[in-house]
Order: sequence, then structure tokens, then C-alpha cells
Amino acid sequence: MFSNDLIKPTHFPKDFSWGVATSAFQIEGAANEDGRGTSIWDSFSHTVGKVMDGGTGDIACDHYHRYAEDVAHMAALGVDAYRFSIAWPRVQALGYGAWNEAGFDFYTRLLDALDAHKIAAHITLYHWDLPQGLQDQGGWLQRETAYHFAIYAEEVARRFGHRVASIATHNEPWCTANLGYGNGQFAPGVVDTVAALQVSHHLLLSHGLAMQAMRALPISAKLGIVLNQWTAEPASASQADQDEAAWEYARSVQWFMDPIFKGHYPKRALDRMDLTRFVVHDNDMGIIQQKIDFLGVNYYFRAFVSTENPARKPEAALGLTDMGWEIYPQGLRDLLIGLKREYDEFGLPPIYITENGAAFPDQLVAGLVHDSDRIAYLQMHLQALVQAREAGVDIQAYFYWSLMDNFEWNSGYLRRFGLLYVDYATQKRYFKDSAFWYRDFILACKEA
Ligand code: FCB
Repeated sequence: MFSNDLIKPTHFPKDFSWGVATSAFQIEGAANEDGRGTSIWDSFSHTVGKVMDGGTGDIACDHYHRYAEDVAHMAALGVDAYRFSIAWPRVQALGYGAWNEAGFDFYTRLLDALDAHKIAAHITLYHWDLPQGLQDQGGWLQRETAYHFAIYAEEVARRFGHRVASIATHNEPWCTANLGYGNGQFAPGVVDTVAALQVSHHLLLSHGLAMQAMRALPISAKLGIVLNQWTAEPASASQADQDEAAWEYARSVQWFMDPIFKGHYPKRALDRMDLTRFVVHDNDMGIIQQKIDFLGVNYYFRAFVSTENPARKPEAALGLTDMGWEIYPQGLRDLLIGLKREYDEFGLPPIYITENGAAFPDQLVAGLVHDSDRIAYLQMHLQALVQAREAGVDIQAYFYWSLMDNFEWNSGYLRRFGLLYVDYATQKRYFKDSAFWYRDFILACKEA
């Protein structure tokens, strides 16, 4: 059903936004420069055994010093939008207290460079790099952190809200809660599923508080949140598998969507959770349920659920990426159509695909990377997106993850998602074949 030659430039409207995405910790480096504070990912990645190759964010892609070159690469790609995140500890070392002007200056320089190339900035306030200063006070398990986040959000919006296209509060709060606290694979590395539940609530609360604070400002940026989402599909038609799939969808996708759009947690999820240490204050759900101007959706794979054999994997007819993730473009289409079906009546705003992309074992040979697998991945996911648009889903932007190879969290530098290949020894960037394909496709869309 998905084929890599079916996608055509005429399938996209002229005003569709084409972009690339990154996040601060994964690319910036300059970890100890200009007053940047320590983040939980600095602490975590410097702890032996946490990151597969022992990689850290100390240098990463050295984007802090090479941002001008990187923006020039974006211009060469022809993208009209760039999604990146602000490193909270760079602009407020401890997460509370004094603002760091040198940190803000970096983002001003970056925004100036983007402006010069007419590339719209889409910023994310929290892409996982909590200031260690706040972690030392309990981090996201501590309710107070949500209030600190709102102060930070307001300050960034006050400074940049008139010149960026959008501001997202969080990136993938599901991951912050469940990988940071549930299985401990991500910083701060806590293994406690009940704590993860509380963290997810504080993240949502912080989103609501930040939305309220930013809304009060005279800014033009659209405001929203970025969620990682998947379809959950039963391995068989059995009632048990179907129920399990519905529960999986409830505890991941609806867990964040329902509070924002409906003002309550999904009952199906609550029914099966340990709520002994789950504290929700009286007005919290009202604070969380704020109108958002866009919903950012990150899509990589589907969830596949078998009660008989929980370890069972889907057949993966289109193969796996270097992350071991199933290539399943149909899930993107089904997910988007499902979101419209369920949330339209609750005010679902336009959707931006804020992340989608794949890691493959790229080889740099004579300055070239022949990543036909990534081109096929892109084409099939764009095709899924077109199908969702044809079914009436309002999707206005697509951001490929990522502009360039970078620090892939607990996989370190072993997984390459970029359109640009980064040679970490020299910090030289090379356009992969997929970058040329994306460039040509974007251009054709503009001219179609
Ligand atoms: C997402 C993250 C992003 C990147 C991709 C591969 O979950 O938001 O930073 O690591 O996965």
C-alpha cells in the first residue's frame, strides 16, 4: 500500500511548511560556556553505563559555535521552518533565580541568522534538559518545578514571542515521565512507575501554567505542545488483545490528549493504574485544559500488543530502522485520522508533524552518503501524511528529524538520524542523498 514513488509535489498546498528539527542538548555542545548551568542530561551522560558509547553533550555537533553554518545548510536545503529547543540551563543556570543574558544572546544570534534566510523559528521550551539545580530540589516529582517552568516560559515568550512562529511547552512528556522515571533509560534515570505517573501530571500542570502565563503577553507566536504518539494495534482479533491495545493507547496518547482537550484523565487508563501516590489538586485539570493553537505530533512507530506473548514483535514488512523501530507509515495516517475523529469536537487545532525520521547505518564514502533507505522512509511517511490530509486532517507542517546526526540520548552518537552526516572528528557536515532529495522535493512543491 505504501510505495516510495507515489508522492508528488502537487499533493501539498503551497503554504505547507517544510522544516527540519533538532534539540538543544543533542546539538549545541558548549556545555560549560557563557554561564550555562548543568542539566540532568549532563549528569546522566557523565554517569558510566548510562549512554551506550559513553557519549556526552559536552561538544555534540558544536552547534553553539557553528550555528551560522548550520542555518546556511538549512537555507541550502530550502526549508522554510526550523524547530529547535531552548536549553533552560543556558538561559537560567539553576532553573530559578537569575537570567543568563549570554545564554539569551546565543538564541538572539540564532534567530537573527534564521530571519536573514527567512526561515521561521519554532521553539520548544523543554526538550528534556532540566537544570540540575531543580533536579536537586526534586525535579519533576516536585510540584514546585511546574511553577518554575511557567516563570521560564513567560520569560522566553516575553523576549522572543513576537519573532518566532510557534512556542511548544514540552517535547514528548510521555518520554520525560516514562523513560526518565518509569524504566530509567533517560535522565534522571529513576525506576519507579508510580513516580512516573506523578511526573506526567506535573508536566501537564506545568504546560497549563505556562500556557496561562504566555497567553497574558502581547505576542504573535502560536502556542502548543509536542506529543509523541502511536497507534496501538492488537496482534489478534481476540477481545483480550483489543482491550490491551485500547489500554496502551489510553495510557500513552489519551493520557496527555484527554486532560488538554477534555479536562480529565482517560478512565480506561486510571482503572489500571496504581494511584496510591498520585496527587492531583482540585483546580489542576482546569489549569491544564487550555486552548492550544497547534498540536505537535512526533511519529516514529506503532505500538503492537499481544497478551499471549508480550514480547511478540510485528512482522515489519517494510523493515526496521537502526533503532530497531518498525517502519510503519500507515500508523502515521491512522493516528492522524483517529485524532481528528476523537478530538475534533473538543477543539483539535491544526497539526504540525514536529518529528518524523529514521536512523540508518550511514556510510560516508568520498564525501557522499547513499541513504536510499531514508529517502524511501521519507517518501512513504509523506504519502501517509497526504492520505491523512485527504481524509480531512488539518496538517500544516512537516519537520524531518533531524537536520543533522546528533547525540541520540542513551544511544549516544551511534545512531544517525540526520539529513546531514556529521563527521564528529572534524565537525564537518555532509549532505546525504536524502538531503538532496528533500531539497528537490521542497523546491518542486513550491513550484508546482
Ligand atoms: C524523539 C526525540 C528526539 C529524537 C528522536 C529520535 O523521541 O524527541 O529528541 O531523539 O526521538
